[in-house]
Amino acid sequence: MSRIFFVVFAAALMVGVVFLSRNVFNGDTARVSSVGKIDIGGPFNLIDQNGKAVTDQDFKGKYMLIYFGYTFCPDVCPTTLSTMGDALNMLTPEQMAKVVPIFITIDPERDTPELLASYVHNFHEKMLGLTGPLAEIKKVAKAYKVYFGKANEDDPDGNYTMDHGSTTYFMGPDGTYAAHFSHGISSQIMAKKMAEFL
Ligand code: NI
Repeated sequence: MSRIFFVVFAAALMVGVVFLSRNVFNGDTARVSSVGKIDIGGPFNLIDQNGKAVTDQDFKGKYMLIYFGYTFCPDVCPTTLSTMGDALNMLTPEQMAKVVPIFITIDPERDTPELLASYVHNFHEKMLGLTGPLAEIKKVAKAYKVYFGKANEDDPDGNYTMDHGSTTYFMGPDGTYAAHFSHGISSQIMAKKMAEFL
């Protein structure tokens, strides 16, 4: 290899490395900024299990641990709500004071405030059960990207089951997305992840 060829080759290599590292760097920057803009959540205007009107603004400054489901759900909802309750009990009292656990029904037709009151306290004494007009529930579920719908026609007794998304959301003090938990995650992992923020 001649000396001049070596110098040209080395220079070309350096330009290549600089170009490559700039692109990798820009790529990383783009990825990080997109993670910071996860478009989950939004305002709500619902009624709690005591019949009191509540909005997302009432929880400003607190973290919200939010799950959508229905009290007649045979399996997924009770499992997830138990996980939420157990995870909350693993936090210190100071950490727990910053979190509001919220169950939003996707079956307002049957889930009255009275029914929610007798249901949510099985999982945690701090848990709120929210219901409201179907149109408002649809709007909130859409903002949280939670699908729901009737799974079957009513049987002769008027019974039916619902299909629904099973992700639990952890929202920050400003109401924006902080983390989410898939169905089946352990209460230990949920508690550990929440504690990172608290
Ligand atoms: Ni369910």
